[in-house]
Amino acid sequence: MYIIGGDGYIYIYIYTTNVVLLLIVTTITIYKMKRKIAFQGAEARVYESKILGKKCIAKERFSKQYRHAILDTQLRKQRTVHEARVLARCRASGILAPAVYFVDDSTQTIYMEFIEGKTVKDVWDEQNLKSSNSNSSCDNNNNMMLTKINIAEKIGIVLAKIHNHDMVHGDPTTSNIMLRNQDNEIVLIDFGLGSQNASIDDKAVDLYVLERAMLATHPNTEDLFKQILKSYGEESKKAKMILGKFESVRARGRKRMAFG
Ligand SMILES: Nc1ncnc2c1ncn2[C@@H]1O[C@H](COP(=O)(O)OP(=O)(O)O)[C@@H](O)[C@H]1O
Ligand SMILES: [Mg+2]
Repeated sequence: MYIIGGDGYIYIYIYTTNVVLLLIVTTITIYKMKRKIAFQGAEARVYESKILGKKCIAKERFSKQYRHAILDTQLRKQRTVHEARVLARCRASGILAPAVYFVDDSTQTIYMEFIEGKTVKDVWDEQNLKSSNSNSSCDNNNNMMLTKINIAEKIGIVLAKIHNHDMVHGDPTTSNIMLRNQDNEIVLIDFGLGSQNASIDDKAVDLYVLERAMLATHPNTEDLFKQILKSYGEESKKAKMILGKFESVRARGRKRMAFG
């Protein structure tokens, strides 16, 4: 912008006003974006955001004050890149997981597809609340009914599929498994602890983590877990070996709980 002669003050005034307005608009936009924090875990902050005008999820691994600054940055970078890689590999293998749009290396943020749906934890909790009426769920956008057993069956299939590609989720809790509105399909999220080139042991432990988490979060769901194992067994390429290993991991876990 040019400042000419006696009108200079007017131009300076307009210029300053524009800059102030721009600052206010930017602050409000950032505030609005960050305001929609959906979730804050131990490692990351997850909020609704936008990328190229498209609604998305931003998962930002924040820094931990108690860690050495250099180590902190290194860890956050490693985990962010790791999660984005496992997510991308899942998608490439045809496993339903959010698409990665962009990884911001400066803030350790993954911008990914927003899954319109609910976590299985929320679905099952809601079903429990409504259990006096029926044992099924009805989504707002989709009239298809899914029982808890249907969902358990789908979880077993998805877990077997990811294991068939030699990957493990690492933290398969019902908060990390979503039920997508549009088609009632299971979508896995939160691959921060996931790994590639997984062994039979890793896969058995993945099943054990799910069992422990499920029984702790949803009491009296032994029958649902049995259904997960059943459909897992039907879909898995190495079911016999993995389920055999799972039984020994489980027995070891029980022993540890009994004798400390
Ligand atoms: N891609 C996504 N689409 C919709 N909701 C998501 C998505 N990713 C995460 N969420 C929501 O945010 C919560 C926390 O995300 P998650 O990746 O599990 O973070 P954390 O590592 O802190 O557990 C999830 O339980 C889910 O409710
Ligand atoms: Mg999670």
